[in-house]
Amino acid sequence: MQSPNNETIFTMEATPLKYGPGASEEVGWELKRMGVGRVMLVSDPGIVRANITGRIEELIAAEGVEVEVWDRSRVEPTEDSFQAAADFAVDGGFEGFVAVGGGSSIDTAKVSSLIATHGDEIIDYVNAPVGGGKKPPGPLKPLLAIPTTAGTGAEATTVAILDIPEQQVKTGISHQYLRPDRGVVDPLLTLSMPPEVTSSCGLDVVCHAAESYLSKPYDARPRPESPDDRPPYQGANPIADMWSAKALEYGGNYLRRAVENGEDLEARGAMMLGASLAGVGFGSAGVHIPHACAYPIAGLKHEWQPPGYPEDHPFVPHGWSVIVTAPAAFRFTYEADPERHHRVAGLLSGEKVDSADENTLPGVLIQLMKDVGAPRGVRELGYGENDIEDLVDGAMKQQRLLVGAPRDVSEEDLAHIISESMENW
Ligand SMILES: [Fe+2]
Repeated sequence: MQSPNNETIFTMEATPLKYGPGASEEVGWELKRMGVGRVMLVSDPGIVRANITGRIEELIAAEGVEVEVWDRSRVEPTEDSFQAAADFAVDGGFEGFVAVGGGSSIDTAKVSSLIATHGDEIIDYVNAPVGGGKKPPGPLKPLLAIPTTAGTGAEATTVAILDIPEQQVKTGISHQYLRPDRGVVDPLLTLSMPPEVTSSCGLDVVCHAAESYLSKPYDARPRPESPDDRPPYQGANPIADMWSAKALEYGGNYLRRAVENGEDLEARGAMMLGASLAGVGFGSAGVHIPHACAYPIAGLKHEWQPPGYPEDHPFVPHGWSVIVTAPAAFRFTYEADPERHHRVAGLLSGEKVDSADENTLPGVLIQLMKDVGAPRGVRELGYGENDIEDLVDGAMKQQRLLVGAPRDVSEEDLAHIISESMENW
């Protein structure tokens, strides 16, 4: 029996999505339907070079919608990079926003719309304790998101992630109003993604889905005082489970193929759809330990030059920063609900899981990591035993995420998880 003071309610909100090869050709039509006449198109230099931004700009203009391009989104957004885009947004008097790119471009558009609609400083809205934790006072201007990677699911989520270099931490702004109004998901836009990017993004999808599926159930948390205090990450619930389960199946079946052959449109499509499905799932249920550890892993040192990414600045790609601690994290969470861990292992492996134990799911994940060329562990990303304390401190700052873990997580637990994750094989 649950305590009578526990939560009894969960909500399911999903971005309306248009999916399919060629879907991005309909961007102008979609914007007209949304009733916006002048938009800021947010993108980044890599997507411009891939000739995607210019094409989208043409398609928008062809429908008579005025469009101005902001193509300076950073791969790892910072407060400064968000601010520069937000200033452009405030000055431009736009009626709406279009994001074309990976999670960073979509997140940049979310924050641009937030500041252009409601003003104030970005840091005021950043999650406490790093920022002020202010809630947006009302809905934002319309945002149409066109992802070009199959990873973050940012088109479906309520968060914008940023790096705060002074505090050596990554955190975010999270609120329902940040969720894009519409997503256009076109697998043709991902065909040129290099295998390493495909690997990192795809493993992020797998972690979104697995962490959501294995998060603390929504009704295991105390009931909030008011609906306003219900957290964006509500915990596992029957509807989020469906989205996460399908994303796990796609990740297990198609990620290897998409990494092996980037032109495999069926695999690209499944991973693209999987990213959106997982985005809806984790937008409702939430992610926890691997993502909490990923923030300091990506934020603490900026020394690792990832293979396959542009060599403009060293950094740890998000999906790889998450996956490296996932096997140990799920070994730790196993006792909270063995049966659900077995189910995740089964969905990912596509096989019936017999005689499973706490090492079954970690084993399935490690095999997938090996097959798609992921780093072996935290050490490969530039960290050693001496860094564990700092990594634990950074992860402990992500209480917003850690409260969603199915077991209480102490500093010692995190130290143990990170140390087990130094080498996964
Ligand atoms: Fe992620």
